Amino acid sequence: MPELLDLHPAPADMRALVIEGLSRSPKQLPAWFLYDAEGSRLFELICQQPEYTLTATETALLEHQAPAIAKALGRGTLVEFGAGSARKVAPLLRALSDQAYVALDISAEHLAEACTRLQQQFPGADILGICCDYSQLQQLPPHPLLSGSAHLGFFPGSSLGNFEPAAAIALLAQFRRLLGPGGRLLIGIDQPKPVPRLEAAYNDRAGISAAFALNLLQRLNRDLQGTFDPAGFRYQARWVPEASHIEMALVSRRAQEVSVAGRRWSFATGEPLITETSAKYSPEAFLELAAAAGWRPQARWSDAADDLSLHLLIQAD
Ligand code: AVI
Repeated sequence: MPELLDLHPAPADMRALVIEGLSRSPKQLPAWFLYDAEGSRLFELICQQPEYTLTATETALLEHQAPAIAKALGRGTLVEFGAGSARKVAPLLRALSDQAYVALDISAEHLAEACTRLQQQFPGADILGICCDYSQLQQLPPHPLLSGSAHLGFFPGSSLGNFEPAAAIALLAQFRRLLGPGGRLLIGIDQPKPVPRLEAAYNDRAGISAAFALNLLQRLNRDLQGTFDPAGFRYQARWVPEASHIEMALVSRRAQEVSVAGRRWSFATGEPLITETSAKYSPEAFLELAAAAGWRPQARWSDAADDLSLHLLIQAD
């Protein structure tokens, strides 16, 4: 059984974030709130929906290019930010053979399961799980697997797109500090596509994306004494061209008052609570963000349709 460290944000911090997010106009909460145990399970299902091609495309690309990527990455502890089910790392661990691997994720149950499965798959690898909000992690905890510098960061799934551009730059700069001088970052970035395809990916016919967003309300009810009625909201995902992102929201079906985090909040009819945004970046637009955070490109791998890229970044100084 691999070792697990618990650095999950305290309930008081979650309460402060909810108060801050619901005080905004429009109301918006950090995307990681979506990932309690049920949210993580639903996200796994989203990844299997025919409309949501991102996961299958990136997994196939990783499997196909793993030897070349492993060669370019070199040696070091592999640190995955937001590991989820940690399935995408398998081809890399296979190609890197007996690599030390540290998985960071906000969902403790999911992380424990993923690390246990990986350890069975790679009995020779040293594996550590850290339950945390990686976007707020100021330093990696002291641990033998993290004692060297120049770690190899892995941030697949285009999760960077779930941060607004300024926050995305801050996050990339934070990764640079966490990975240490000489550290590298392999990051998956989903690219712009025709709008109907993008909107379909976030409005799957089976309704899993809607269930994933609505589960946020159940989570707020359970963890922060909320009184949300999920039937009082409908899910909406739409492309916002000015921001080059998909905006996902729960739209209030009626004027209503809700209590959560010790306060009362009013929702007007049609008022959105933004659950997350998902930006799509061309390689050029992404490399501009990366440069602003002190990274420069070393290599890029992409699928045949050029839907998504895996960028390998090295530190600019
Ligand atoms: C995790 N993240 C990259 C997903 C995305 O595509 O933005 C989250 C997601 N939410 C609904 N569908 C997918």
